[in-house]
Amino acid sequence: MDVAGSDHAGNAASFSPADDDVFARIAERYDRLCDLFSLRIHRLWKSHMAARIAERAQGRILDVATGTGDIPVRVLRRLGRNVDGVECLIASDICANMLSIAKGKLAATSANLEFAILDAHDLRGIPSNSVDLYSIAFAMKICDRARVLTEAMRVLKSGGTFLCLEASRIPAGPVHRAYLIYMNWCMPLIGRLAASGDRSAYSYLLRGIHDFPSQRAFANELRQCGFADVEYDNLTFGIVALHEGRKP
Ligand SMILES: C[S@@+](CC[C@H](N)C(=O)[O-])C[C@H]1O[C@@H](n2cnc3c(N)ncnc32)[C@H](O)[C@@H]1O
Repeated sequence: MDVAGSDHAGNAASFSPADDDVFARIAERYDRLCDLFSLRIHRLWKSHMAARIAERAQGRILDVATGTGDIPVRVLRRLGRNVDGVECLIASDICANMLSIAKGKLAATSANLEFAILDAHDLRGIPSNSVDLYSIAFAMKICDRARVLTEAMRVLKSGGTFLCLEASRIPAGPVHRAYLIYMNWCMPLIGRLAASGDRSAYSYLLRGIHDFPSQRAFANELRQCGFADVEYDNLTFGIVALHEGRKP
């Protein structure tokens, strides 16, 4: 994947947090917006990812673009008292407002948690070959994929697991087109009401959903970046997919 020469190449939503601090503005409303936009189904998708993380949980886990912490919350709920193998769970995001809500949600946990302001494109502060499991949910479409994947590869230990939950494509073309028409009509309507007219909250999401590569194409991007054993699960007919890969 060639990302040279453009800030937004490989970024399905052409989003840059430096140009628009939308997540800082909507942080307090983010969880409600997720419920509205997905009819609460995002909870199932996130639980599916958390179950996979919990199955593989050991050593150092890094959740990138953690937002309000939905993934770490679910992982720790799944693990319960079985956190002995987990040396540390790092919840990170580029947006301090989102991370502070995550901190609040995770305040009562006794697990070894860390919070960090980190840019997925440049995880400085995370040493190379230091992470056993890297996860990213619903943020790949608003990032430059090649840069994010390269950083994920750098920080993962050999044999470490990469997991990405992201909007994808319903394999049946006509059904996917019908879904996009529904989203084109519904998102602006719900978004305008729930986000108090803040168009950014749903326009990036819509653009990302439109332009994110298919399951197979994204799996190939992972392979091109050097990941091995790449597989994916389609969730809810392929509206969302969970991709997994391993650093050789
Ligand atoms: C759609 S939310 C997803 C949050 C959470 N993972 C979830 O599934 O609910 C996207 C998150 O990505 C964060 N984000 C956007 N660009 C980022 C970047 N370059 N590096 C790290 N986080 C970023 C935003 O601040 C926001 O919290």
